[in-house]
Amino acid sequence: MSVARKRIEDLRSQRWLAPDTMRGFSHRARLAQTGWNRDDYLGRPVIGILNTWSDISTCHSHLRERAQKVREGVIRAGGWPIELPAMSLGEVWVKPTTMLYRNFLAMEAEELIRCHPVDGVVLMGGCDKTTPALLMGAFSVNLPCIFIPAGASSNTSFRGEKVGTGTHTMKYWNEKRAGNMADDAWLELEGCMTRTPGTCNTAGTATTMTAVAEVLGFSLPGAHSIPAIDGAHPRMCSEVGERIVEMVWEDLTPRTIATEASFHNAIKTVLAIGGSTNACVHLPAMAGRCGVELPLDLWERYNKEIPVLANLMPAGDALMEDFYFAGGLKALLKRIEAHLDLNCMTITGKTLGENIAGAKVHGEQGDNVIRALSNPVSREGIAVVKGNLAPRGAVMKPSAASPHLMKHTGPAVVFETFADMTARIDSADLNVTKDSVLVLKNIGPVGAPGMPEAGNLPIPKKLLAEGVRDMVRISDGRMSGTHYGTCVLHVCPEAAVGGPLALVRDGDMISLDVAARKIELLVDDAEMAKRHAAWQDAKPATMRYNRSYAALYQQHVTQADVGADFDFLQGTELLPEPTIF
Ligand code: FES
Repeated sequence: MSVARKRIEDLRSQRWLAPDTMRGFSHRARLAQTGWNRDDYLGRPVIGILNTWSDISTCHSHLRERAQKVREGVIRAGGWPIELPAMSLGEVWVKPTTMLYRNFLAMEAEELIRCHPVDGVVLMGGCDKTTPALLMGAFSVNLPCIFIPAGASSNTSFRGEKVGTGTHTMKYWNEKRAGNMADDAWLELEGCMTRTPGTCNTAGTATTMTAVAEVLGFSLPGAHSIPAIDGAHPRMCSEVGERIVEMVWEDLTPRTIATEASFHNAIKTVLAIGGSTNACVHLPAMAGRCGVELPLDLWERYNKEIPVLANLMPAGDALMEDFYFAGGLKALLKRIEAHLDLNCMTITGKTLGENIAGAKVHGEQGDNVIRALSNPVSREGIAVVKGNLAPRGAVMKPSAASPHLMKHTGPAVVFETFADMTARIDSADLNVTKDSVLVLKNIGPVGAPGMPEAGNLPIPKKLLAEGVRDMVRISDGRMSGTHYGTCVLHVCPEAAVGGPLALVRDGDMISLDVAARKIELLVDDAEMAKRHAAWQDAKPATMRYNRSYAALYQQHVTQADVGADFDFLQGTELLPEPTIF
């Protein structure tokens, strides 16, 4: 690609560092304070390293060392690195849910970049929300950026069975609740569930979103699939350090890379990898920062073309390390290249097609992990269902659901809130059978707030004891990409803003027909209108915040079908450069 190279005087960092003014003096004097000479930074691209490492972000526990490798690469290429810590968002730790803080990290990333003297940024993340958040912020500033995925944790096994993060936690938890797992086995599992640093090793949200980052063009080719502790991972980080300096000189900015075509490529990739339904929320939010609309219907359009090819848990039986040895994401993209727009630009300065040229699936074993289009793991990755219960749509994952429940009609068992559900789900007198439809309200973007991953409600204990392991479950919340079950998620509009989900009552019949893409509450319109009027009068008691970030969130979050971003952060308007006061 031929590009006009930037000149030193074009670097935004020079506004801070170069002028012979009192402010310029202060900036240089402070760098002298920390041991830097003028030659270290003057006339060099300044690279911000946004690192989501923290003691409590266990998936990112190696990123502190990896940032050092990025620094080495930056210096080798003639740049000057500054590390800027950002909120870590460890998925299993942050309560009530990391999703509440995805927009927070996106804002933080945007402002960290904008207010510091940086010319380009390296984004270090991987645990679920960190990937979309960092990229959303970087898209809004539109300075050259590269995303470094943390990499997945290594394969692990429990008593001879290969176990996947999240997927088997849920499976064994159900067995323990059913009385089939002894305490010593449970304790042993705790010690071997997650063996190494790195993200969940299944096709969970982390794996899904780092695949999105790479296919959109924001990671080095192949980076997605490198295991966290592989020697290739620090080498990749060092290479990123070198490449970002060059990108600054090339002025290769995110919005020349993240286009409508590359977002469509991302949807197809999520479908092929059997990825998380969370992508249905994150992708519209990311696209919205680039002025691109991604309606839910696109998932349906591409569902017809792209089956699930990655044999990864929870839809399949392999883990990310197997996927890496099979050829990784580049090999998967090669399998679907006829369906991708290969002309999309990437951070390498080359097209997606050039980046995956020569990629292939390795051997017979590899063929089982990354399947051919003619031999998919499942025909359908993600389905969008609509109807009077979800006029703007809801999503589900047929590849991780039970075939016998794909067409099902049953009576609703309704929980008004998450607290109501936890209080009653296991009670002996809950009026529930295997044919019931479990409905959980008020866990949407506004209702929870933050749309937690509580959409795969636990199977009631008394049904577990009868051998039931799956039921139709419906909510306005999300589900972990590592989990499975016949769960209808992201029902939109959500209950807390008066969506029809708010009107469901115990005993109402609900009909799900995935093949027909239908979800219907079998209650007539007149009754629905009566209930809606009553709902408005009652002003349902979902928690409303008057102060704090949660108040800002509830006032400005959009609905799930358009990304649950803040309304005031969408769009492509670039703010003026900060005044150097
Ligand atoms: Fe961090 Fe799953 S908990 S990626």
